[in-house]
Amino acid sequence: MPLTHRSTLTQFLIEERRRFPGASGDFNALILDVALACKAIARAVALGELGGNSGDFAVEGGAINVQGETQKKLDVLSNEVFIRRTEWAGNLAGMASEEMEAPYQIPAQYPRGKYLLVFDPLDGSSNIDVNVSVGSIFSVLRVAKDVEDSGRDVVEADFLQSGARQVAAGYALYGPTTMLVLTVGDGVNGFTLDPTLGEFMLTHPKIRVPEDTHEFAINASNSRFWEAPVKRYVDECLAGKTGPRGKDFNTRWIASMVAEAHRILMRGGVFMYPRDTKDPSKPGRLRLLYEANPVGLLMEQAGGRASTGEKPMMSVQPTSLHQRIGLVFGSKNEVERIERYHAEPAQKVSIEPLFSPRSLFRD
Ligand code: AHG
Ligand code: MN
Ligand code: MN
Repeated sequence: MPLTHRSTLTQFLIEERRRFPGASGDFNALILDVALACKAIARAVALGELGGNSGDFAVEGGAINVQGETQKKLDVLSNEVFIRRTEWAGNLAGMASEEMEAPYQIPAQYPRGKYLLVFDPLDGSSNIDVNVSVGSIFSVLRVAKDVEDSGRDVVEADFLQSGARQVAAGYALYGPTTMLVLTVGDGVNGFTLDPTLGEFMLTHPKIRVPEDTHEFAINASNSRFWEAPVKRYVDECLAGKTGPRGKDFNTRWIASMVAEAHRILMRGGVFMYPRDTKDPSKPGRLRLLYEANPVGLLMEQAGGRASTGEKPMMSVQPTSLHQRIGLVFGSKNEVERIERYHAEPAQKVSIEPLFSPRSLFRD
């Protein structure tokens, strides 16, 4: 494919920057460093067993991250790649990652900058050893002015900003092709890695999520722990053409949120990992700062919606770095419906056929 009619990621970022004549270029430099990290991770993922990076990360006593989950070698490697590719350039005040309990401080030999980078270096890592798509997902925040001016070490509180304050968010998907999907607050654009050039090329400009869908994704093995509004929504979808929705639905579950988000950006759908009663110490499975917030901004920027079920994800004030939260995102009309179900007073479920969900809950 000749290089005549597509933008590279670099060209795209430079053209975007022209909208802000005073911009320093730090932001673009940061995104390009993140993109390079993603290219390096894509290569490690693609080599699989040949790269010597499959399997669990083995250290004495086992390697359990702050989430209480076993780390894969590729989780640890990807985290390292994100750090090394971005820490040196003077654009960051600090970082936070799924794989690190505390905020990461920019080493003393490097200048500090005005952005915070928050990331899940490898999402869906249970899929690595079975050769199914995984991804990286990240969020960029501005650090408070006093931190920028003083260059002091960052603390957890510096990261506790609502999703609405994100400057940028994106993910890389390591699938049949490697893609980088990015928002800098002006829509969502998708880039495909041309492996021969080593460049991300703009292939999916101005991505929009269809407002309606007949596809939903949820881990149904948790159904006995779901709250009533989620149960109701899923039951109605499963009832299909003859149920209250009057149409048949499809289900999907990849167990890799980035891959699910990508499918939804491409063709619509709804994804739910709702709050449930499985483990009362965990209000949801996914993490607010580096999973729910970046995916939320991407959805909203593409005309979709992201929610806790009760309120817009972008409005949630975080209370801790690794906070978990119930997450629903995707096609706008479906997410709004799920929010409506949460807002309505609990329905009395009766065994009488007359009051079965099919009739009682009919639109
Ligand atoms: P991670 O690999 O970063 O821990 O995240 C995995 C997440 C998410 O990507 C996916 O949607 C979900 O966990 C899968 O959960 P189940 O194993 O409960 O299906
Ligand atoms: Mn994850
Ligand atoms: Mn992860």
